[in-house]
Amino acid sequence: MKGLYINTDFDIIKIKNLSMGFNIDDKFYYALENINLDFSKGKIHAIAGESGCGKSVLINTILKILPKNAIIKSGEIIFDNKNLLNFSEKEYENIRGKKISLIPQDPFMSLNPLYTIENQMLEVFENNKIQNLEKVKDALNKVKIKNIDTVLKSYPHELSGGMKQRVIIAMSLIQNSDLILADEPTTALDVSVSNSILDLLVELKNMGKTIILITHDLSIVSNYCDTTTIMYLGEIVEKNNTKDLFKNPLHPYTKALLGALPDKRGKKLENIKGQISPITEIINGCKFHPRCNYVMDKCKIEKPEFKHCVKCFLY
Ligand SMILES: Nc1ncnc2c1ncn2[C@@H]1O[C@H](COP(=O)(O)OP(=O)(O)O)[C@@H](O)[C@H]1O
Ligand SMILES: [Mg+2]
Repeated sequence: MKGLYINTDFDIIKIKNLSMGFNIDDKFYYALENINLDFSKGKIHAIAGESGCGKSVLINTILKILPKNAIIKSGEIIFDNKNLLNFSEKEYENIRGKKISLIPQDPFMSLNPLYTIENQMLEVFENNKIQNLEKVKDALNKVKIKNIDTVLKSYPHELSGGMKQRVIIAMSLIQNSDLILADEPTTALDVSVSNSILDLLVELKNMGKTIILITHDLSIVSNYCDTTTIMYLGEIVEKNNTKDLFKNPLHPYTKALLGALPDKRGKKLENIKGQISPITEIINGCKFHPRCNYVMDKCKIEKPEFKHCVKCFLY
């Protein structure tokens, strides 16, 4: 069936009414509430928001790499016409790192310190044919690693952060993953290396891959991403294509995030007042109301619905 799609504009993954959270001291607290998201194929989709708003938890729920105190309350994650949340651990093994790859913030976490790059890249294959090494080299070439033979003989700690990210991206190429989840993949890297990794993500997109890119950096969003989802305290507050969202931000939180971006002279305009609260602090009404410049009485009691592309009583 897959080959029949000529138009790439269909959803590779759909998240429906997803709510989950964590048990903390025997009490349950929501970390994600009623998340609805569709990601179309062959695009780079940003999920943005300040630290602590639930971006990583969302990605980790898709891959079901969750700590013991996590509880998924409701929802579906539809991938390949199946609900991943119904998958057994064994079934998930065919998804993680295969159909869906993760590029983590700290690449060291997904590489085994005890094996050379060559050994762990070859492990991706189920059989050990001689041609596999050629496939490995081909993938490293695609991610623009020049000294391939040296890299293959290296252990992870001998490589720079940027190089390790390239190796992880090469592994996702070997697996031919259609969907790549990148959780702040460049936060630990300096600017020039960061840009080259982001350029690589654009190349993956041009190969037809879909990338969900998590970041707190809105300049990355505007430069690299086709669509943008803004999260605040476990909820989606706004989503749109990136151009429209930057041209006409609607939610006060989106406005505040954009207002905090440095201007053309590199000067930071204004900080968002207050701080994101921990999930253990229950906020009635709109979760952003304590920090909102446009707060109305209603916002303190009632929860706005997500309508069209924004979740706010102003619209
Ligand atoms: N295992 C856990 N137990 C309790 N709370 C958690 C756990 N993991 C994450 N959280 C909380 O969930 C919220 C979202 O975290 P996270 O998704 O890591 O944020 P970010 O947007 O920075 O990636 C935070 O308040 C965090 O403290
Ligand atoms: Mg995170």
